Formats: sequence, C-alpha cells, structure tokens
Amino acid sequence: MKNIIVLVSGGGTNLQALIDAEKSGLIKNGKITCVISSNIKAYALERAKNNGISTEVIRRGDFSEFSDYDKALTELLKSKKADLIVLAGFMTILGKEVISAFKNRIINIHPALIPSFCGEGFYGLKVHEKALEKGVKLTGATAHFVTEVCDGGPIIIQKAVEVKNGDTPEILQKRVMEQAEWKILPKAVSLFCEDKIKVVGNTTEIID
Ligand code: GAR
Repeated sequence: MKNIIVLVSGGGTNLQALIDAEKSGLIKNGKITCVISSNIKAYALERAKNNGISTEVIRRGDFSEFSDYDKALTELLKSKKADLIVLAGFMTILGKEVISAFKNRIINIHPALIPSFCGEGFYGLKVHEKALEKGVKLTGATAHFVTEVCDGGPIIIQKAVEVKNGDTPEILQKRVMEQAEWKILPKAVSLFCEDKIKVVGNTTEIID
C-alpha cells in the first residue's frame, strides 16, 4: 500500500475528489495519510480533519531563505514516509531539493491542456481568464509529474473540456474541475499506486 501525501493551499475540491475516490475503492493500492497546507486558513484542512486524515502546515513566509523552506518541506515529507506526493491546488513553487528527493513521485493537477496556459503565473482562476481571452474552444486539465520546469514534467493524463458562449472564468473553472480535474487526478494517482506509469524521457507510457 503506497503512502500518499496531499499538498494543498485552498478550497481543496481536488483533495475531496481524492478522498471520495479512495473511499469508493477507485484508488487501488494507495492511502492518503497526511495533508500538508501552505495556508493555515485553507478549507482543505477541514476536509482532511472531517475524514480523519492528519494535517500539517508549512508556510513559505516562515522562512527567510527559500532553500531553508525547501529543506524543511523535504524533511517533513521524508518524515511522513511519502511514496507519492500530490499537488492538489498547491500554490507555492517547489524547490530543487524536494523535486530531486521525490523524482517522478510528485503529481500535479493543472487546469489547462499543457502546453497551453501553463508555466509561471498560470494558476487558479488566471488560467481560465487567459483561455477565455485567447478564445480557445477547448480547454481541459492535465495530471503530470513535477520536474524543475514549471508545468513541464511528463504528462500522465489529459482531458478536454468545451468552452461555451457566455463563460466567465468562474463558470469555466467549475466545468473544468467537474468534467476533468476531479476525474483524472484520482485516476493518475491510482495508476501510480498500481505501478502502471512508466516514465520514458519526458513522457509517460501507461501500462494496461
Ligand atoms: C484547481 O483548479 C487546480 O487545478 C489549480 O488550482 C485549483 C485548486 O482548487 N491548480 C493550479 O492552478 C496549479 N498551477 P482546489 O483547492 O479546490 O482543489
């Protein structure tokens, strides 16, 4: 059974999707054992507590040097014996130390079809604002491994979602979450826990 640690910063609807998937048996061979938040007020912490999952808070602002923050997060994750780390709306950039300590063991969910609308500055609602500004007719979500290149790691699963007339960033965000994020993130986590993802260079092959 793989030990899953989920990193959050906000509302935690993706965390909830993972908790629900675990409860209904959709995550095979994995268990969420801890939720770590970058924000003490994140509602995601309530979701964890309501489901009997232990919580921790680690804030970038409590460290003057980024390297000290990076080291502390790495140590925390090692102390929790993480097999898989999931970034579920985690809004702090990860440092080199944590990324190299957990190579190909960190999965992020991004609310667009990478390589569109991704990289530095593209997070949360901003991603949907940019998609609407560009006028794309299809957007979606991507579950991918985290490397030092922001949103540039091997893609695991993508799912497309239609953009509709009259969409606001908020309406589009909700549709992308419901139709894509909450489905592909639990699926990617389950595939990882079942050892069904083979990383080949900067791509993946899913083993059936
Ligand atoms: C989600 O849409 C997630 O894809 C996005 O933030 C939201 C968090 O919502 N993440 C990023 O933009 C990361 N670059 P949640 O807290 O309800 O899961």
